[in-house]
Amino acid sequence: MPNDSAIGIFDSGLGGLCAVRELSDLLPCENIIYFGDTGRVPYGTKSRETIRKYTNEDACFLLSHGVKAILAACGTVSSNAIEVISDITDIPVFGVVNDAAKAAYNASKTKRIGVIGTQATINSNIFKRKIEAIDDKAVVLQSACPLFVPLVEYGFTDEGDEITRLACEKYLSHFRGEVDTLIMGCTHFPIIKNAIEKALPDVTLINPAKEAVKTMAEALREKDLLSKSGKHGTIRYFVSDDPAGFSASAEIFLGKKGSIIAEKTNVALS
Ligand code: DGL
Repeated sequence: MPNDSAIGIFDSGLGGLCAVRELSDLLPCENIIYFGDTGRVPYGTKSRETIRKYTNEDACFLLSHGVKAILAACGTVSSNAIEVISDITDIPVFGVVNDAAKAAYNASKTKRIGVIGTQATINSNIFKRKIEAIDDKAVVLQSACPLFVPLVEYGFTDEGDEITRLACEKYLSHFRGEVDTLIMGCTHFPIIKNAIEKALPDVTLINPAKEAVKTMAEALREKDLLSKSGKHGTIRYFVSDDPAGFSASAEIFLGKKGSIIAEKTNVALS
């Protein structure tokens, strides 16, 4: 696989753009292809079988662009379907679970750790199992926060948004005094990090996309797969629904201004 092939990143929607942001900060010379399955978001409310079917189609789309590695920048996919990707390709495949579980364990002093995610992620128990595999005495408390995904997708992301504050209160108050570290186990959630922090001021927040990108960079370096171009990489964005409006939302996730054009694919129609 040529070093200048792109790294493929996908998510059910826009949450995976957090990983694009981390990756382009860490490895600016890499070309990236992003696919957001905006036509079928959310995945987190769907059955495991459906998540696995969608994952297969999303990965096939990225593979058709000759990517050299894939990052499933989606907690729901990473916890329910990551092996679906490894089964169809020999290129390196990364998810957002393992490194976040390790980072949370290392960050926690009390070894009492909270996990939030979509319903499908929490049902999989994967973060809990990974942390307990490190230390079976660690206590892991979990909560699905299904309303966070539409709040983020619809742009209720300002610190002062009352609706987001109320949702944080509803979902997070039971963690207060119970955990010292919280995994934001859905890639949409770091966008409302400030609101989460306000609800849980003394808790260390773990961003799984950030952890996964560090590990992916290290693995690609070891395999000698990093770009050697010395030039700034290009990023192509694809979505499976109407690309209109993508730019405004992408600005929030990528944390930068500028018109960001997405191309439309027919992945969701297959
Ligand atoms: N970004 C997805 C995740 O990390 C969640 C959104 C969804 O439910 O599709 O789980």
